[in-house]
Amino acid sequence: MYQLKVILATTREGRKGPAVAAWFMERLKSQQDFEAELIDLKEVNLPFLDEPEHPRLRHYQHEHTKRWSRMIEPADAFVFITCEYNFGFPAPLKNALDFIYQEWNYKPAAFVSYGGIGAGVRAVQMIKEVITTQKMVPLFEAVHIPFFASHINEEGKFIATESMEKSAHVMMKELLKWTKGLKAMRDEK
Ligand SMILES: Cc1cc2nc3c(=O)[nH]c(=O)nc-3n(C[C@H](O)[C@H](O)[C@H](O)COP(=O)(O)O)c2cc1C
Repeated sequence: MYQLKVILATTREGRKGPAVAAWFMERLKSQQDFEAELIDLKEVNLPFLDEPEHPRLRHYQHEHTKRWSRMIEPADAFVFITCEYNFGFPAPLKNALDFIYQEWNYKPAAFVSYGGIGAGVRAVQMIKEVITTQKMVPLFEAVHIPFFASHINEEGKFIATESMEKSAHVMMKELLKWTKGLKAMRDEK
């Protein structure tokens, strides 16, 4: 089983991200290739980057950085769940990415994005530029959810459409391929 870390990017009071994350985590239960864990950046609660040295040196001074490193190190793959704020990805995710470096290297990343008409796509495109610097491999296959609020019912539950389910299925199949390939590459080192 591969270790999949599903990272929820939003942290604001009253955020809707957890509803999307709950749907995605639920559907992951039916597949056998990944052991999935949801990492909620609100719970991780990192301060703004306060490490004195470049993270690639891994000379972490702070306990919160060491803890974050331990959470990400065992991952074989990532799914980022994100909205977009002002056409960009949420600042807490950028901060969390910047804190560490080697822990991200040579691992694949897929995306579930949500928003208005743009479905969070602009945020995803922006994340890709950042994470390739950290030697992650971003996937093309993704779940992009337009007008996501119309899919949240009165109980606050996100109800996916058939096409979202299909996109998630295709994305996870592709993620498995890259996970296997990059794991083999990391093991070679
Ligand atoms: C500061 C801010 C900026 C936003 N900018 C965008 C945007 O550029 N595109 C978009 O589709 N939605 C935008 N929205 C609406 C969000 O898609 C919506 O509020 C969503 O619930 C945000 O995710 P969250 O609830 O998990 O924080 C914005 C919302 C906020 C609070």
